[in-house]
Amino acid sequence: MSEAQKIANLSDVKPGKMFRATIDGQAILLANIDSEIFAIDDMCTHEDASLYRGALKGHCVECPLHGSHFDFRTGKPDGNPATEAVKTYSVEIRDDEIFICL
Ligand code: FES
Repeated sequence: MSEAQKIANLSDVKPGKMFRATIDGQAILLANIDSEIFAIDDMCTHEDASLYRGALKGHCVECPLHGSHFDFRTGKPDGNPATEAVKTYSVEIRDDEIFICL
């Protein structure tokens, strides 16, 4: 497993909100859901759409383009048109900083 890298400060990801950050040129979408931080790839697996531009609904983000919902806990879409899961990342909180393993 790769070493954890800092991606954001805890204060960047407000409760009930999403935050997009780039690490090694890759856009990662963070969300603060019920005080837990999740991290997934920002790019939808169906077409080129930034999930950050979508809406956070419970534990899912709704793709802004065609409406698939991706679960932050599993990365899986709830149905068409997307069929492939987005990658999820394990998150570590150290003090007030968020780290993920790529
Ligand atoms: S681009 Fe996301 S569902 Fe089509």
